[in-house]
Amino acid sequence: MHDPARPTPWTSVRRAADKDAFYHELARELDALLAGEPDGIANAANAAAAIFHALPDLNWAGFYFLRDTELVLGPFQGRPACVRIALGQGVCGTAAAQRRSILVPDVEAFPGHIACDTASRSELVVPLLRDGTLLGVLDLDSPVLARFDEADRVGCELLARVIAPAL
Ligand code: SME
Repeated sequence: MHDPARPTPWTSVRRAADKDAFYHELARELDALLAGEPDGIANAANAAAAIFHALPDLNWAGFYFLRDTELVLGPFQGRPACVRIALGQGVCGTAAAQRRSILVPDVEAFPGHIACDTASRSELVVPLLRDGTLLGVLDLDSPVLARFDEADRVGCELLARVIAPAL
C-alpha cells in the first residue's frame, strides 16, 4: 500500500501532469527534511540522498558549489566524481556560466561533456540561485538515454528553489 506521506511511486508516473504532481510532492518532502537545519552541507547531503532514492534510473545525483571561479564537488550519491569543474566546461560548468538548466538527452552528443561515470548516458543540470546569486548546480545523471524531459527540468527547477535557501 502506498504511503501518502511518500512521493508517488515512479512506476505510476507517466505523463507530464503526473511528473508535475510527483515533483511537487518531493519538493514538499525536501522542504520538511531541510526545515530548521542551518548547516548547508548537512542539507545538501540529505537532499542528494532524498533525490537519488526518489527518482528512478539515476546513477549519480548531487551538488557542485561555486568556489571563486570554479565549481567544486559537494555532497552526492553515486560513484566518486571529478572534484573541480571550470565555469563554461562540461554540462555543469555550462549550466553555471549560463545560469540556466541544461538537459542533455545523449551525453555523447554534448561537446565537452565530462565523463565522471562511464555509465552515464543522459544528464540534467539545474543552477542553484539564492537572491540572484549563483550558489552552484544540482546535477543528475542517468544510465538511460533520454531519461530526462521538459517535465523533469521544470520539476528539478522546483526542487532547486526549495533546496537553495537551505544551503
Ligand atoms: N558530466 C558532468 C560532470 C559531473 S559528473 O556527471 C558527476 C559535466 O559534464 O559537467
